[in-house]
Amino acid sequence: MNGTYRAIRLEKTAPSFREGCVIRDVPLTQPGDGQLRVRNLYCGINGIFDTQIARNSVDYVTITLPTYTGVEALGQVEAVGPGVTGLAVGDAVVTTRFTGGYREANIGPAGDFLKVPSTDPDWLALCSTGVSAMVALDVIGELKAGETVGISAAAGGLGHFLVQIAAQRGCHVVAVCGGAQKAAFVRSLGAARVIDYTAEDVRAVLDADYHNALDVAVDTVSGAIHDAFLANLANHGRLVVGGAAADLNGKPEIVSGPRIANAIYYKGASVRGFMNGLMTAHWPAAREKLFALYNEGRIKVHFDDPRYHGLESVFDGVERLLSGASSGKVIVDLETAR
Ligand SMILES: NC(=O)c1ccc[n+]([C@@H]2O[C@H](COP(=O)([O-])OP(=O)(O)OC[C@H]3O[C@@H](n4cnc5c(N)ncnc54)[C@H](OP(=O)(O)O)[C@@H]3O)[C@@H](O)[C@H]2O)c1
Repeated sequence: MNGTYRAIRLEKTAPSFREGCVIRDVPLTQPGDGQLRVRNLYCGINGIFDTQIARNSVDYVTITLPTYTGVEALGQVEAVGPGVTGLAVGDAVVTTRFTGGYREANIGPAGDFLKVPSTDPDWLALCSTGVSAMVALDVIGELKAGETVGISAAAGGLGHFLVQIAAQRGCHVVAVCGGAQKAAFVRSLGAARVIDYTAEDVRAVLDADYHNALDVAVDTVSGAIHDAFLANLANHGRLVVGGAAADLNGKPEIVSGPRIANAIYYKGASVRGFMNGLMTAHWPAAREKLFALYNEGRIKVHFDDPRYHGLESVFDGVERLLSGASSGKVIVDLETAR
């Protein structure tokens, strides 16, 4: 690395992540007390969050420009500062802290890193998006075995974990995604009914075949899909709101239905917000359950194809995710381009 490494820095607010960011050289310093220096091997792409960060429209993140970017990375410990215990040079670690993602190296408190079994990028997806899926279903959705579960953006990074976890619990998964290829992928993950919204009307299918039948629904798209899930909640149904991709260019929310009072009152149903960053206390338990499923071969990590290489291709990864064309988790291999 010749005394420096590269990192993506947001230098001005802009409509897109690419327009607001510059790749900067950063001095490669020694870790201080309690710190690690990690060489990042892979980073995970969060294109919707990144775009909102570039627009300074993430309500819960206060941005002071310039700011480094990216949330998720897997790397290998390169140097260990005084006082660090339990971690050694060569260990594989994951971080899921904002500003730790889109950079070739990372120097920070050892507590920001989680030791994982190997540098296989599966561990990156499991520790970040996989944990989000587990917490959304179990803690916020209070999922029970055998329930009927609606999932939107089901072929995506988060969605493909949601589908597999729910299917593993013996749940009947009704999955929504866009396109025949994605629909086939989601079916292969264990969904009982896949609604390809480019070929079928989501609301019409749910009204006809799942009327008041959704015990849990996890929606990250919003708009008409949110409304279709809400209208078809079962008694005591839980609608988990974990994102609003369709609102990306339409803030404030796109509202296509009436107020929700009548939709939830008579059914004793609820609409619940899910923000994984607020759920850190639940991460260890979620990881334990998720890693067990993974180690038993009961869930698999799927990455989007094409794979991206080099820090500069983070921008392509962001745009790929925003295009709606990706399936599985979008990551960038940071090592191969160097
Ligand atoms: N609340 C949390 O803590 C948390 C944690 C992780 C992720 N998330 C949210 O979960 C969602 C999925 O995240 P991800 O990183 O795994 O992404 P992803 O699902 O891999 O990709 C986004 C998918 O959303 C769908 N989509 C619908 N409308 C869209 C639009 N206007 N622009 C872009 N995509 C649109 C597309 O799938 P279809 O066309 O097939 O619908 C697209 O493939 C995002 O909204 C993200 O912000 C929330």
